[in-house]
Amino acid sequence: MNSPQRYTITAALPYTNGPIHIGHLAGVYVPGDIYARFLRATGNDVAYICGSDEHGVAISMKAKKEGITPQQVIDKYDGIIRRSFQDFGISFDNYSRTSREIHHKTASDFFLKLYNDGEFIEEVSEQLYDAEADQFLADRFVIGTCPKCGNEESYGDQCEKCGTSHNATDLINPKSAITGNVPTLKQTKHWFLPLDKHEAFLREWILKDHKSDWKTNVLGQCKSWLDDGLRPRAVTRDLDWGIPVPVEGGEGKVLYVWFDAPIGYISATKEWAEREGKNWEDYWKKEDTKLVHFIGKDNIVFHCIIFPAMLKAHGDYILPDNVPANEFLNLEGNKLSTSKNWAVWLHEYLEDFPGQQDVLRYTLTANAPENKDNDFTWKDFQAKNNNELVAIFGNFINRVVVLTNKYYNGQVPPAGDFSEVDEDAVEQLKQFPGIIAKSIERYRFREASQELMNLARLGNKYLADEEPWKVIKQDEERVKTIMNVALQIATALSVLSEPFLPFTSAKLKSMLNVDENLSWEDVAEKEVLLPVNHQIGKAELLFAKIEDKEIEAQLAKLEATKQANEAANKIVEPQKETIDFEDFTKMDIRVGTILEAEKVAKAKKLLQLKVDVGIDVRTIVSGIAESFKPEDIIGQQVTVLCNLAPRKIRGVESQGMILMTDTPDGKLAFVEPQQPIKNGSEIS
Ligand code: MF3
Ligand code: ZN
Repeated sequence: MNSPQRYTITAALPYTNGPIHIGHLAGVYVPGDIYARFLRATGNDVAYICGSDEHGVAISMKAKKEGITPQQVIDKYDGIIRRSFQDFGISFDNYSRTSREIHHKTASDFFLKLYNDGEFIEEVSEQLYDAEADQFLADRFVIGTCPKCGNEESYGDQCEKCGTSHNATDLINPKSAITGNVPTLKQTKHWFLPLDKHEAFLREWILKDHKSDWKTNVLGQCKSWLDDGLRPRAVTRDLDWGIPVPVEGGEGKVLYVWFDAPIGYISATKEWAEREGKNWEDYWKKEDTKLVHFIGKDNIVFHCIIFPAMLKAHGDYILPDNVPANEFLNLEGNKLSTSKNWAVWLHEYLEDFPGQQDVLRYTLTANAPENKDNDFTWKDFQAKNNNELVAIFGNFINRVVVLTNKYYNGQVPPAGDFSEVDEDAVEQLKQFPGIIAKSIERYRFREASQELMNLARLGNKYLADEEPWKVIKQDEERVKTIMNVALQIATALSVLSEPFLPFTSAKLKSMLNVDENLSWEDVAEKEVLLPVNHQIGKAELLFAKIEDKEIEAQLAKLEATKQANEAANKIVEPQKETIDFEDFTKMDIRVGTILEAEKVAKAKKLLQLKVDVGIDVRTIVSGIAESFKPEDIIGQQVTVLCNLAPRKIRGVESQGMILMTDTPDGKLAFVEPQQPIKNGSEIS
């Protein structure tokens, strides 16, 4: 293993416009956590940094949608996210927020430094504008066709499909996400970071210096942008939510969220260092510090091109040593989506599977989307738990602990002469710290998790082959050796599993009463990990079988989501045949008010109504009983087709028809005037 080293590890700051789901976990937070825990366990100095990303249009849009303020949105989701990370055992050294004072100041000062050093271009240009909403259309406020890949739902600043980052004015057929209007152009002043000026440097740094140590998916994206040629990018916006632009002429403008958010890594480090009595600059300015960004593939351009260009322009700062971006995780064959509620939400998982954090951590790691998109299925989740964690890891530990208690009152027995099998098992065991470390150091967490499972397999197979429960009848001395070796393997598992399965590791260490200081190096080098006569505790179950019904409940939840989405996206019927104006004028449609309502006997769908339509008060039988209770619609204004020929329905004469439409969840809704209108007013 390498000599100790200082690391700054960052995990993409999640937007506080929704909770955390398994895609975020698999792509960013779990691999980051394994890396951070591994580095701490092997004696390195680590700051694992994250926090809530609370600016940008994502937040404003959510606030608009929910009818609350941006501040309420960020407080709500920061709370949910913060708690769920904690309960899930993500070991951030600091989880901050970009709404905090320390971040506003840090980001503001960063901007000012670049401004004063002449690193920006100040330019009045034409930007997309929505006159109806009286607003410039930055970022997610505008949607259009991506000039690079043709995705028709690209945002103004970034296409989530191909990952390209562009200017809003580059979009083909732009549309306002607020009103749906086609935007106009309006002049406004902004500050631009001239990326073109940094292109040569970036090319050299990424494509030459990091050619062999960065992932190919990351290098590929970087190369594609560099080959397209970099252009100046605006780092300010005409928005009212964000960090104010701290220079003359910046009134009413804020920093672009992708300018302030990565600086959030620095602010969060400062906050942590102040609390811990450390020097934050060591973690951002010392050349021997390794900076590693954990992100999803949609964030590559910001972490490999834009943020490094900012850091370079500022001077003083180190650049990332690696950016091990992951691809995307899908769920049961479909893309994860916060807006479509197509997700396994972390806070819900923690409620549905209490105490089973490690099962999800393991599944997401064993199936991590490291080199290509991958699919999460509940069946696979169940299989990984039942066939690997329970049947291999759990089974091995359980046998070791139960037998040690049964044969030796829980005291480690002395080993006699080793057979070839024993020698071989111990020899293999010692290789594991190095093997797993090597995979983690190369950001191959999937492979690393499988190596950990191989260690459990080694133990499981050793016991199955040596069969101490049979041998005990003929050769008690031999069993002492077998159990001693098995206990060494169990102890190694308790240490090496910590980065992957922290809850299990803690439980196992306490079960075996393992010395806190036992290290990865010890596992590789020490002759005995648990000394003779060492007292272990009683067996506790590490993993529980997951039953079919638990999986079915999760699948049913997803099915309900699917149906709700389908209802919401119901296909719009094509237009009917053309009619003449005369045909239309034949219809007498008026505003009315429901005065009375009662159920029609023996008819599930029907209500009998008394409706004041201005001309008279008449009886109308309407098929709305499955959507409304009679008592709830007294006083409701409605639109009525009055001159429809009367018709007997269930013995009652209906004198007209109430106009209705469908809601996304399959109910009916009234078509009502926007404000109270006199009964009898005609609709034309
Ligand atoms: N909030 C962004 C996202 O969810 C990530 C921000 S990462 C940071 O895509 F570098 F800006 F912090
Ligand atoms: Zn695209």
